[in-house]
Amino acid sequence: MLAKEKHLQEVLKRRRALEIQCAGELAGKSRIVLEIGCGHGHFLTAFAQTHGDRFCLGIDLLSRRIRLANEKRNKRGLSNLLFIKAEGIEILNAMPEGVSLETIFLLFPDPWPKKRHHRRRLMQAEFLGKLAQRTIAGGRIFFRTDHAEYFQWCAKRISEHSEWDLGQEVAWPFEVGTYFQDLMESFYSLSAIRAGPSR
Ligand SMILES: C[S@@+](CC[C@H](N)C(=O)[O-])C[C@H]1O[C@@H](n2cnc3c(N)ncnc32)[C@H](O)[C@@H]1O
Repeated sequence: MLAKEKHLQEVLKRRRALEIQCAGELAGKSRIVLEIGCGHGHFLTAFAQTHGDRFCLGIDLLSRRIRLANEKRNKRGLSNLLFIKAEGIEILNAMPEGVSLETIFLLFPDPWPKKRHHRRRLMQAEFLGKLAQRTIAGGRIFFRTDHAEYFQWCAKRISEHSEWDLGQEVAWPFEVGTYFQDLMESFYSLSAIRAGPSR
């Protein structure tokens, strides 16, 4: 089998496994609080602990980070919190029908500063569209970064997108520093509101 074909089969197998996991763990959940790129889960664990009525889902690409995040969750016995190893767009595709999001945190995502790497940035029209399909009207993205150029770039992508409105001022809903935030001297925050018809 060609290497390319083998890679494709592995991707499809991984996506199928994610769909099965999401069907088992997310079916029937609504108004989820989603953190994409949650790292070790420090922020979302603290959020879930103080918002017992909200179901919180953290995802990250790296297995070790997800394992550590789930250890935090288990130590605190939080039944309203779950961490899954997944990629940002893949999790949105894998969620079962009817699952909805209310709050999305994107905290210090990789800024990919070199121009030739900008296509790897998460905040692209495709991502915003898929996120919008899952988010209830009035739902919000909360985005934070230390990277000024990436901040402007993301604000532009959001303002150009028909399904999201840039919030005029940011009332940050929960202030607990993330691992990266605590390393930074300053940072920029924005929020975006899901516009248009409700799901
Ligand atoms: C710079 S770290 C920030 C971690 C954490 N949010 C913080 O502020 O400490 C970015 C995280 O996003 C994860 N990540 C990068 N691209 C991702 C993607 N497309 N989907 C999900 N996670 C992603 C990385 O594995 C990493 O843990």
